Amino acid sequence: MTQLSPATTTTPTGGAPGAETGWWRDAVIYQVYPRSFADGNGDGMGDLAGIRQRLPYLAELGVDAVWLSPFYASPQADAGYDVSDYRVIDPMFGELADAEALIRDAHGLGLRVIVDLVPNHSSDQHAWFRRALCEGPGSPLRDRYHFRPGKGAHGEEPPNDWESVFGGPAWTRTSNPDGTPGEWYLHLFAPEQPDFNWECPAVRDEFRTVLRFWLDMGVDGFRIDVAHGMVKAEGLPDMGRGGQLELLGSQVLPFFDQDGVHEIYRDWRAILEEYGGDRIGVAEAWTPSADRTALYLRPDELHQAFNFHYLGADWDAGQLRRVIDESLDAMRPVGAATTWVLSNHDVVRHRTRLGGGLDRAHAATLLMLALPGSAYVYQGEELGLPEVEDLPDEVRQDPSFFKADGQKGLRDGCRVPLPWTAGGASYGFGGGGAWLPQPRGWADLSVEAQTGDPESTLELYRRALRVRHDHPDLGAGDAVQWLPAPEGVLAFRRGSFVCTANTTEDAVDLPAAPGRALLSSRTTESAGTLLPGDTTVWWTTS
Ligand code: NOJ
Repeated sequence: MTQLSPATTTTPTGGAPGAETGWWRDAVIYQVYPRSFADGNGDGMGDLAGIRQRLPYLAELGVDAVWLSPFYASPQADAGYDVSDYRVIDPMFGELADAEALIRDAHGLGLRVIVDLVPNHSSDQHAWFRRALCEGPGSPLRDRYHFRPGKGAHGEEPPNDWESVFGGPAWTRTSNPDGTPGEWYLHLFAPEQPDFNWECPAVRDEFRTVLRFWLDMGVDGFRIDVAHGMVKAEGLPDMGRGGQLELLGSQVLPFFDQDGVHEIYRDWRAILEEYGGDRIGVAEAWTPSADRTALYLRPDELHQAFNFHYLGADWDAGQLRRVIDESLDAMRPVGAATTWVLSNHDVVRHRTRLGGGLDRAHAATLLMLALPGSAYVYQGEELGLPEVEDLPDEVRQDPSFFKADGQKGLRDGCRVPLPWTAGGASYGFGGGGAWLPQPRGWADLSVEAQTGDPESTLELYRRALRVRHDHPDLGAGDAVQWLPAPEGVLAFRRGSFVCTANTTEDAVDLPAAPGRALLSSRTTESAGTLLPGDTTVWWTTS
């Protein structure tokens, strides 16, 4: 398998925590959602062949790595986050040879590849779960999941009061092999996603070999789904309160962010270290605070974690400054690179979520890309795609939509397939109709329409990533120096680089130009001291 060469190293350059180098510390990592990126075989569903064809686009965009959401064998009850075989590609996405070719081509273009690993739960169609069901209560094969007798005189009530993240109880009752009502099993997400029992040695062994399988194929790392969920509080105590759980939430719960989970990451880190080339682990960990997130990033655990506290901040100077400071302060003692993210496949796209249209989205992006550390870009944000808010009910697929008390299927609107060309049945996504309908009017948002247009979102991202790559004071780092700024404006310095972001809707006059303007999120206006509303400007003093 071709490896990126030469690999950057993790050799400490200073000795102070945070001074280490490593490719992920300043990487811009692009999230590909395989269903919706590019459809190579024209069946309306994105696939690995489609992604492979479009890799040059990503290289040209200027990202360093690609994270692929799951493409494994799956009944697709949760868009692939319900895996029935961790070593097989779902036929709708291709086959193992396609994955190998994709990794090889990406490396050839200088792009690293991170794959999604889903270790908290499998599909209910996974061979282990099916066998456990067949074997009935008392079978050691049931130890691989959380099976429990119900409460009540006849076991008719769930074993505890845990709620599923998608809505409804986190337990589903099984039938015994003879058809009588049987034990219950735990699923923190959909009923089709039974939780593994990580106290069971077979589960730990299985995932060690799954890691090796993909490392042997050449992947550069893993994005670890529900990384905070594998270990549950001993005895599975009640939550003690009702109410819908938040997706990406920060609540303290007996099944999330338990201390025991860190032992798993110490084990995995040793495996990653065995392989050369700086393979990384990225935690999708929903924790109550940046300090709790930092625990996943101690030097013998994972390399990065998504910064959901940043993603959750409003477009408000005070809130942003607080989250930025807390994030940097929390990561510094463990020497981990901070990450920044505005959009992903689980949240409303930031052009819509931040409430200020394209101008604000552009300003938010330039602010994010100016911060020290690594940044995640979700496919389509470089095109300025809005959330699709009017999808008809009959096309929706988010499992939470089908729960009366769930989260209303809010995730389909950010998963609509990308427009590549201004014309064609699915704007060049594939041959036929896309699996989720694309809105009329997306022609102007297509890659084709935006390429070469200096005022487009796409060209802004391209320029920003180029400047970020070339400027010696952008990228990795663990601190910013805040500068005095008018109310509602964030201004900070990093060496010879200065960023000013106006989070208000009104123009403000800066006391003086902080340097020579490098880039403005208002693509049409040259930056003087007047900073328009919802605008970020990058400056340099060198
Ligand atoms: C987080 C993933 O990002 C989300 O899409 C998925 O539904 C849950 N984990 C469950 O796997």
